[in-house]
Amino acid sequence: MLETTTTEKIIKPARNLTGTLRLPGDKSISHRYALLGGLAEGNTTIANFSTGADPASSLGCVAALGAKVDWLEDDRVVITGTAGKFTPSASPLDCGNSGSTMRMMAGLLAPQSGEFTLIGDASLTRRPMERIRKPLAQMGANITLTEGHAPVIVSGAALHGIDYTTPVPSAQVKTALLFAGLQAEGTTTIRESVRTRDHGELALRAFGAQLTRTVDSVSITGKQQLKGIDATVPGDMSSAAFFLCAAALFPESNLVLDGLGLNPTRATLLDVLTALGATVAVLNLEEKHGELVGTVQLNPPPGGMGGTTVSGALAAQLIDELPVLAAIAPYTRNGIRIRDAKELRVKESDRIALVVKNLRAMGAEVEEFEDGLDVPGGQQLHGAQIDSGGDHRIAMAFSVAALRAEGETAILGAESAGISFPEFFELLDTVAER
Ligand code: S3P
Repeated sequence: MLETTTTEKIIKPARNLTGTLRLPGDKSISHRYALLGGLAEGNTTIANFSTGADPASSLGCVAALGAKVDWLEDDRVVITGTAGKFTPSASPLDCGNSGSTMRMMAGLLAPQSGEFTLIGDASLTRRPMERIRKPLAQMGANITLTEGHAPVIVSGAALHGIDYTTPVPSAQVKTALLFAGLQAEGTTTIRESVRTRDHGELALRAFGAQLTRTVDSVSITGKQQLKGIDATVPGDMSSAAFFLCAAALFPESNLVLDGLGLNPTRATLLDVLTALGATVAVLNLEEKHGELVGTVQLNPPPGGMGGTTVSGALAAQLIDELPVLAAIAPYTRNGIRIRDAKELRVKESDRIALVVKNLRAMGAEVEEFEDGLDVPGGQQLHGAQIDSGGDHRIAMAFSVAALRAEGETAILGAESAGISFPEFFELLDTVAER
């Protein structure tokens, strides 16, 4: 059964990817600036805010809770914060397709007064929420789920700090606990075995909070007030991944991405592309509110990509890039092996199952494992009908695979790209030479 098949997009093969792009703002950072801007005192002005539907859900939630959200003519968004006090809304808070919104909002709201209900679409309602309920309950929160899922009903309560080790590496869970800890009594410490993306920590600091960190933990003391900021969101590395991987498919490509977020907890893909044989140059590095930003130039390996294994900590750090890495794997010489990525099964879709299904539809040989997949190299794919499952990253990953296939590929449910990257197809047409 196909879930969302309203728009079909035809992708034709390309000869290379050439040009310079500046991508819309990072989805993860946009969520955090939107949520903290809503909680802070004063105005937060954000340039290059993500154009995806997911961060718009975060803006919609803070607006429903009493923050004011205005768009300026130059596309900056101004949030007038609630100075630490959200007002319960009459209707449920709609998180749409966004797990980040739902999980981080739960942490933000648990210490507030009143009752709040968080709802989402069918895909979000299938995703696990116990991972935030459990530690927040240890802090004293009252959160009710339905069999571990949304709706998430939060009855605000006074919270106290805890010392918590995340069982599954998750930046969403870490951030939810930091947002709750910010408003709790005492100190909250989160320990993680793999260092997940640290945009939550950096955003909290940018808004004036103090945090301390060690190699494997981060701590926040409660009862701190935030102050609005003026910020520009760096380009989204997880969106860039589709273009970087596509460029790497063709020896003649030359792709430059300006103003790209290069936070080390997000830039692991550049190491993988280098390991596959590409030449990746990083230029014009700058720091903005703790986030690294720069220009990336990718030149593909003249003799084609080699092969690699992604497992352990790497799998957690590359979690959003794994679908596109799997989609280009058949075109490598030695294939790509992915393990320790069971989390992919509880994303917007079961991404392991959908990657396997769609690679096979394109004629690829692939072996599925509970926590990953093996894609042998040296394979030529053919155009096919792709089931995106309503999942943005599946729709875009297979648009990339389609660029080197024989014949045309139809992406069903192509509109799902709009969850993170509405401009994807248009920008692909500007850099794909056919
Ligand atoms: C995100 C963290 C990741 C990632 C998601 C965004 C974030 O999820 O897959 O797209 O902004 O913190 P988990 O934290 O659940 O691994």
